[in-house]
Amino acid sequence: MNGHPLIALPKGRLFEASLGLLSKAGITTDTREESSRRLIFSDDQERYEFVSLKPVDIPVYVESGAVDIGVVGTDILRELESDVYEPLDLKIGVCRLVVAAPAGAALDFSKHLKVATKYPRTADRHFHARNAHVHIVRLEGSVEIAPLLGLADAIVDLVETGRTLKENNMVIVEDVARISSKIIVNRTAMKIKGQEISELIKAIDRVVYAND
Ligand code: PRP
Repeated sequence: MNGHPLIALPKGRLFEASLGLLSKAGITTDTREESSRRLIFSDDQERYEFVSLKPVDIPVYVESGAVDIGVVGTDILRELESDVYEPLDLKIGVCRLVVAAPAGAALDFSKHLKVATKYPRTADRHFHARNAHVHIVRLEGSVEIAPLLGLADAIVDLVETGRTLKENNMVIVEDVARISSKIIVNRTAMKIKGQEISELIKAIDRVVYAND
């Protein structure tokens, strides 16, 4: 936790959007390094260090203090219930977490329905709050296949364009949550490196909320 703030960027669909926000905030990185196999890289001004990690691992690293700051989807954040500081919504990766089921299926939530999801705790909280008794089947991906193969009656999953649901002849039954992405900060790092971290957050805040 010593030295420059270490920032975890999520591999995958949020990576480019995160770099774009940083760049607009005046924090640029050498793209040749990003595409190389080097795991930790600096910005051009060498004020920060970056590591790209699997999204689901980022709250774990930040909560432990192994990494000071992270960019993470609120889907993962709510699922892991991580104890981290959440200073800024980045308005990237915006989508919905929904309950979906095969088109035409009559879901009776008074019965013990099977629901497949990558988000078992979030799904459990959702159904518990509406007094529905469901059996959660935890999967790691391609969740839309589960009802087609008879593994589950419904799913709880992310919907962005709606294309995956449509292609698998499924429809949205109800919303669970609006999803976005946030900057998260380790609570101790916020005290030790408060000034550098606050400057970073302010710079990104100006970019994200420039048109509000
Ligand atoms: C996500 C999500 C849906 C799909 C939704 O999957 O789990 O499957 O994207 O996007 P759409 O509404 O624009 O079609 P992802 O690509 O992350 O892979 P996964 O299914 O293996 O989790």
